[in-house]
Amino acid sequence: MIYHIRQTTSTNDEARDARYRHGDVVWAEWQSAGRGQRGHTWLCPEGLNITFSAILEPTFLPAPEQFLFTEVAALALVDAMRDYGIEARIKWTNDLYVGDCKCAGMLIEHDLRGANLARSIAGIGLNINQREFDPSLPNPTSMALAAGREFDREEVLRCCIDHLMARYAQLEAGDREGLQRDYRARMYRLGERHLFRLPDGTLFQAAVEGVRPTGELQLRHDDGTLHEYLFRQVEFLIEGRDPQPAGEH
Ligand code: BTN
Repeated sequence: MIYHIRQTTSTNDEARDARYRHGDVVWAEWQSAGRGQRGHTWLCPEGLNITFSAILEPTFLPAPEQFLFTEVAALALVDAMRDYGIEARIKWTNDLYVGDCKCAGMLIEHDLRGANLARSIAGIGLNINQREFDPSLPNPTSMALAAGREFDREEVLRCCIDHLMARYAQLEAGDREGLQRDYRARMYRLGERHLFRLPDGTLFQAAVEGVRPTGELQLRHDDGTLHEYLFRQVEFLIEGRDPQPAGEH
């Protein structure tokens, strides 16, 4: 069931309430404290986009395999965009990109019970009809900018939920390889060199080779070696906005 509320702090916080059950969705018109990844805030003007959280209970999924849930959510958005004629890609771990611009972000949070997941919240902010953005944002876009027309937000929401449940059914059926294959195939910059930054500030170029089932990004460095990075161990940089490594322009 979709709970359409006027406002909350963050739909991910609201979704923690025990009255929401597996398959429910909380959709808020306004978040006073919307949260992004890496401690960022998520700002969304009222009435133009959608901010929602889906509540799922993948109790069959061992905690070390939780990246499969990330794949489910990211692929569902790619599938939904495709229904509207928009070719989106997944910037590891779960940003939705159209071209080199970000159209949606996700904040996925899990509660564990024993060795397995108990309750997972997929919080999604999808830019739909917004055409002007805060200039401090590095590279935002929206479905309207990508497609040159406006969209019915509720229809898009329902489309996203349908695809989320379809991808979740794939996970429930145990098709790990299928999810893994589809996620890799839709990765932003797959096989292409890109600029990255390590936590100590070191910049380097590497080619995206894929992702491990446990979520580590696999990068082929220029010397031919393959390295694997966890979420906090490396950062994609936005070319043109972020600094270039010495010798690169
Ligand atoms: C990111 O790109 O950093 C993730 C952004 C996630 C934003 C969504 S909006 C709905 C849900 N509620 C939140 O507070 N955050 C997520």
